[in-house]
Amino acid sequence: EIAPTLVASVLPANFAELGDQVVAIEQAGIDRIQWDVMDGRFVPNLTFGPDVIAACRDRVTMGFEAHLMVEHPDPMLSRWVEAGCGIVIVHAEACRHLHRTLSTIRELGARPGVALNPATGLETVEHVLDLVDLLLIMTVNPGFGGQAYLASMEPKIAAARAEIDRRGLDIELEVDGGIGPATIAAAARAGARVFCAGSALFAGNSLADRAAELRRAATA
Ligand code: DX5
Repeated sequence: EIAPTLVASVLPANFAELGDQVVAIEQAGIDRIQWDVMDGRFVPNLTFGPDVIAACRDRVTMGFEAHLMVEHPDPMLSRWVEAGCGIVIVHAEACRHLHRTLSTIRELGARPGVALNPATGLETVEHVLDLVDLLLIMTVNPGFGGQAYLASMEPKIAAARAEIDRRGLDIELEVDGGIGPATIAAAARAGARVFCAGSALFAGNSLADRAAELRRAATA
């Protein structure tokens, strides 16, 4: 029985009180924060830059992962690391030279991750799995929180789990999008071990209760 890793997407957080919100996320016993970085080009939404992440860094000690939903992320890779993100996730679809980009993240001292949009096949990352510590399989089309979970991604999740295990790779398999009490168990059965949730965690008035509910539902 592997305990699920719970990651909070900050997208539904109250941006007017972001520092206090990250403290509340840590106090709720959530394992990591995902900063949903969006540039208005790769996805039709625009969120925050490295300075916003840096402003929250010292409020908590928990890990930060930057999910770069941005075109051509290379010029700013060091900025996310300097802002305090221990994991930097780029989209395979946004990188002209993905092998080099992932190698650069590692050289900068962060853990590289690669994300796949729903339409992108696992074969896209076949030749770079040895370079990453994390594979993020999107279970929504990126850009917004509160969308419906795409169960059609479960074969891709299962294929990723099989490939990681077959090659004996030490890779966190994360899913992101529409993860909640009604969907997390199916994603876990398919082979995911890391679960990023936004609206399911911020629903109601207790992050801790929602987090506990998700952890229970993951192994139900
Ligand atoms: C989507 C974001 C996801 C999203 C998750 O573009 O990358 O992290 O915020 O939110 P929910 O859990 O509400 O789908």
